[in-house]
Amino acid sequence: MDKIRIRGGNRLNGEIQISGAKNAALPLMIASLLSDETLTLRNMPRLADVKLLQRILGNHGVDMAVDGKRPGQSDVHGETIHFSARQIVDTTAPYDLVSKMRASFWVLGPLLARCRTARVSLPGGCAIGTRPVDYHLMGLEALGAKIEIEQGYVLADAPDGLKGAHIVFPGVSVGATHNVLMAATLAKGETIMENAAREPEVGDVAECLNKMGAKISGIGSSTLRIEGVERLHGATHMVLPDRIETGTYAMAVAMAGGEVTLKGARADLVEALFPVMETAGVKMERINDGIKVSRNGARLHPVDVETQAYPGFPTDMQAQLMGLMTMADGTSKIRETIFENRFMHVQELARLGAEITLEGDTAQVHGAETLTGAEVMATDLRASVSLVIAGLAAQGDTFVNRVYHLDRGFEQLEKKLAACGADIERISA
Ligand code: EPZ
Repeated sequence: MDKIRIRGGNRLNGEIQISGAKNAALPLMIASLLSDETLTLRNMPRLADVKLLQRILGNHGVDMAVDGKRPGQSDVHGETIHFSARQIVDTTAPYDLVSKMRASFWVLGPLLARCRTARVSLPGGCAIGTRPVDYHLMGLEALGAKIEIEQGYVLADAPDGLKGAHIVFPGVSVGATHNVLMAATLAKGETIMENAAREPEVGDVAECLNKMGAKISGIGSSTLRIEGVERLHGATHMVLPDRIETGTYAMAVAMAGGEVTLKGARADLVEALFPVMETAGVKMERINDGIKVSRNGARLHPVDVETQAYPGFPTDMQAQLMGLMTMADGTSKIRETIFENRFMHVQELARLGAEITLEGDTAQVHGAETLTGAEVMATDLRASVSLVIAGLAAQGDTFVNRVYHLDRGFEQLEKKLAACGADIERISA
């Protein structure tokens, strides 16, 4: 199995191209199930999760074609992929595929809306918490679906089609919002979704659905209104830049020191990051086509942060922030409010010499003057990259095992960091 080796101590200088957002690309791909015409997605990141979802969609009958490189285009630019779900040949999403990637559960709403029936495996728990799907099912039932759970599968039927409804989600869920929103585009009449997730990736999917002929208003707010239409047509959509990748590289630069331009990053998507980095003593500057991040000399200052749904500080940047704060000049407080078990990186950071105490949903990170390289591994994507961030400042070699987690969500991570001067390489086993 591949590992990443990092020798800490190098400053980062140069430019990093920010890729298309994984968490928008996945639901956008799923949206292709709603139409028998072609959905073309540009700026698609080259990620293991995208490839896996291509397999899953292929099972349902979606044809896919990837454009070749155009003159002058290099690997730093995303791919263009065409998705054509002319005919859905299978409305079952099997356990062996859904269990590999939770987001594939979101095929439920679109399959149900288009084919009036769907059989999708329950995704099960995962490394960051129990992650139930009750809001998804509640929303689809409100649209008139009959839902049963049988042998680990959700069986959903709506023989007369879905009907618009007024849905108030009991809590904010990105996935439930995607799932129900996609289904509601083809329901009869109006649907109102209250307490919907406001994450930019939800907005990106809604914009794309509107290009396909859906009638969604309230995009960006917590109340979405959807006027159902009979059918959706083809469209072309450009995936928005990855705000989590943006924040991750900002923290990498903060950790290593230096000055890097995050090209293509959108400052408006990472507003919550600016005050945190300012407190930490890191400079983030909005520039024409991105964000310039720099830190020179002085030690990092501790921060007090809690994760929240958008526009709050994202749970998907919590591990990276913790990695960064292991070297701060004092004690930081980081509270995780979205997932109950998203601290799997704590034990691994400790292997590098970090001092972190956990109490319930809060971590106290006592900044150290030095970290020392070690063999580490992580159980999820963001946890893995927090170890890379720590490794950038650790003395000696850090080996991050289970690189497949990183490959799920970071495009060419080691190449992007090495191009800015990091001593980092992938070691293929
Ligand atoms: C999405 O997961 C993201 N995944 C996650 O990113 C992200 O951490 C999360 O949203 C929160 O921002 C993708 O976009 C592919 P949720 P999702 O439903 O939709 C509870 C990454 O690293 N809940 O918003 O699965 C749930 O248990 C990944 O890229 C219910 O109680 O998350 C959690 O506590 C990991 N019932 C909270 O809501 C439900 O029916 C938020 O979960 C659904 C959710």
